Amino acid sequence: MDMLYIKTEQAEKEYPIYIEDDFKNLENAFSKAKLLGSKACIIADTNTERLYLDEIKKFTEKCFSEVCSYVFEAGEKNKNLSVIYDFYEFFVKNGLDRKSVIIALGGGVVGDMTGFAAATYMRGVKFVQIPTTLLAQVDSSVGGKTGVDFIGNKNMIGAFYQPEFVYINIKTLDTLPYNQIAAGMAEAIKYGYIIDKDFLDFFKNNMREIKTLDSEMIKHIIFTSCKAKAYVVSKDEKETGLREILNFGHTFGHAVESLSDFNLLHGECVAIGMLAGLKMSFDRGFIKQEELDFAKRIFEFFELPLKAENFDKAEIFKQMFSDKKTKDNKLNIVLLKEIGLAYTEKNVDDKEVFNAIEYITL
Ligand SMILES: NC(=O)c1ccc[n+]([C@@H]2O[C@H](COP(=O)([O-])OP(=O)(O)OC[C@H]3O[C@@H](n4cnc5c(N)ncnc54)[C@H](O)[C@@H]3O)[C@@H](O)[C@H]2O)c1
Ligand SMILES: [Zn+2]
Repeated sequence: MDMLYIKTEQAEKEYPIYIEDDFKNLENAFSKAKLLGSKACIIADTNTERLYLDEIKKFTEKCFSEVCSYVFEAGEKNKNLSVIYDFYEFFVKNGLDRKSVIIALGGGVVGDMTGFAAATYMRGVKFVQIPTTLLAQVDSSVGGKTGVDFIGNKNMIGAFYQPEFVYINIKTLDTLPYNQIAAGMAEAIKYGYIIDKDFLDFFKNNMREIKTLDSEMIKHIIFTSCKAKAYVVSKDEKETGLREILNFGHTFGHAVESLSDFNLLHGECVAIGMLAGLKMSFDRGFIKQEELDFAKRIFEFFELPLKAENFDKAEIFKQMFSDKKTKDNKLNIVLLKEIGLAYTEKNVDDKEVFNAIEYITL
């Protein structure tokens, strides 16, 4: 059993992340968090319902006086306030009160929405995350950001809210389509680039085993990713400074993501975006040619896209300015001083951005 304690400055509390091979320890986790006895509601999407809801119910029913479940249709398009309204209605109908516990069973969409509903229902009820995608396990379940999309703007309505614990069963990855695994891998590799060179070396030395989802390797990846994200976030909970480095690859990536009409996965766009960020870092003389080349190799190995093919360069450039992270119409771009050391560059020249875009489109 691997376990990691996450410190959160904002909530002045600590919570554990369990990294397991099955769901057997779930009962113990509820007990340790002193959540036994009350009512619980599991939120799942149509995929996690089909795959895991019965099993989770089996374990939770032993722990709570009553367990109900609410299922919504899978997909980012349902990450909106009208589905949250349905959650609230269901909570009221089922008599959930301030002592009730809400459990998120799914990827980042379920986690973000459930966290937001838990943060706001009766001004806050306890919640637990059971992330079932690699992206949710290495990224979205840590850091306390919850929320929904609003009239075309991603994550515009939300709250910072921490779970009581996060329970990861790595075997849930066995049912996840490979492109979703690769997308999560891109976010994990990102931590190597921004903060932990050894972690990048780990990927370098174990690529093949990692791709077969070797249990020990996957656990190491999840553990190290959660630790890296928790470290960055705990230093800076409200995104004033250090947290920005988590956006490495994201300014370029988000632009490509919106222009693709969301046909590319977020993690795939982040891989393309990281290549652009690495190219800018290379052009400034911060990283070596072989380091830039290696990034291409590793993304290619994981079958991530290396280019935004058939995209218009000027469109990407324009789109980068409509990202909510642009301040005073000036781009802030996360670059690497060296591998494992990211910083936010505020003095960015249009020409170098254009060169980087050229690198990911040609
Ligand atoms: N809160 C944060 O800090 C944070 C960080 C990054 C991303 N996010 C959010 O996370 C969301 C993306 O998360 P995601 O990539 O997990 O998407 P997702 O939740 O939509 O899951 C992807 C797909 O996989 C399915 N699925 C989930 N688990 C499965 C399993 N074990 N086997 C088979 N299929 C499974 C889902 O039903 C869905 O169809 C976005 O909305 C993004 O904004 C939040
Ligand atoms: Zn991301």
